[in-house]
Amino acid sequence: MKIPYVNLNLQWKKEKSSLIKIINQTLESDSWVGGRNIYKFEKNIARLCKTKYAASLNSGTDALTLGLHLLGVRRGDEVITVPNSFVASVSVIVHLGAKPVFIDVLPDQNMNPELLEKAITKKTKAIMPVHLTGRMAEMFEINRIANKYNIPVIEDAAQAVGSLYNNKPAGSLGAIGCFSAHPLKNLNAIGDAGYLTTNNKKIYEKVIELRSHGIVNRDIIKKFGYVSRMDNLQAAVLNYRLKNLQKIIEQRRKNVELYDKYLDKKYVFFPNEKKHEYNSYHTFVIQVDKRDQLKEYLKKNKIMTAIHYSIPIHLQPAAKSLGYKKGSFKHAENQAKRILTLPINQYLTRNEIKKISDKVNIFYMKNL
Ligand SMILES: Cc1ncc(COP(=O)(O)O)c(C=O)c1O
Repeated sequence: MKIPYVNLNLQWKKEKSSLIKIINQTLESDSWVGGRNIYKFEKNIARLCKTKYAASLNSGTDALTLGLHLLGVRRGDEVITVPNSFVASVSVIVHLGAKPVFIDVLPDQNMNPELLEKAITKKTKAIMPVHLTGRMAEMFEINRIANKYNIPVIEDAAQAVGSLYNNKPAGSLGAIGCFSAHPLKNLNAIGDAGYLTTNNKKIYEKVIELRSHGIVNRDIIKKFGYVSRMDNLQAAVLNYRLKNLQKIIEQRRKNVELYDKYLDKKYVFFPNEKKHEYNSYHTFVIQVDKRDQLKEYLKKNKIMTAIHYSIPIHLQPAAKSLGYKKGSFKHAENQAKRILTLPINQYLTRNEIKKISDKVNIFYMKNL
């Protein structure tokens, strides 16, 4: 039997009878854009993230775009971030006319705060750590430096709903938190969706305006805005799925415990969870030699894996004008050759995780 990397099909089968009713109710309500589910979702998210406000949006990418815009990022400004994220973390900076300034990452793939201070210039308008894989970036140190220079921090928490840092939820540790509810995320919509969290009333009110064409009321448009709203239907599905989020995270954490037990650490590296972290494990990424051969071997054994991400953003053709070269970011580049994302979804059985781990171990016993 094939072990898929994700299992949306199974998720739908398990939820179908409940969700069909919810979808039907929503479509019969006549509120297809805007509506009660949206307000309920926003309350739920603000409670979960322990922030004063949450705004539902149509994607994590738009959450980042609106967030950066509202922090005042404009043409010619600089935003410090990491080169090993999903491309959206960087394209949003470029679309605002600003320059992404990259710093290298730690062995756990997150921003190295020791490199932050040196990267700050007069043009730095925001700092954007990414909580990659659901593991929190070192927010204490990042915030300390950001506060010293009075630069706002925007968390790219697209992969980190439900993650904690010193017991504080992702999305509550910077000026703005940006989340994705893309179908592959732990809290997933049935299409594109995202949301933004903040304690700042002004930012919240502006997001609410900007996400809907800048319309204040039917007659007045205060500022030209965007169309970045979440659909009422997506909010209905997300409200339903939110009830299961903690269980899903706990199951994924149990899966990691099993990997920890079965994978031979002689061959496989993955960062341990630190005391102040609580990881939601959006993905489970190992770092290994002979990554491509291992991926192929697992595929032959019907185990599907993924790579997040095989080419760092600064080496992408789209980033040519930024002027970075091979060798600019040693850790990010080295990790890009070694990372492999193993299945971690909440539907995996103990036997499947044992089988995946055994196959990984056998591959190295034969090949090293
Ligand atoms: C780290 C990170 N940032 C931003 C995004 C963009 O989110 P979305 O796909 O909802 O636009 C993603 C989505 O995969 C992501 O993983």
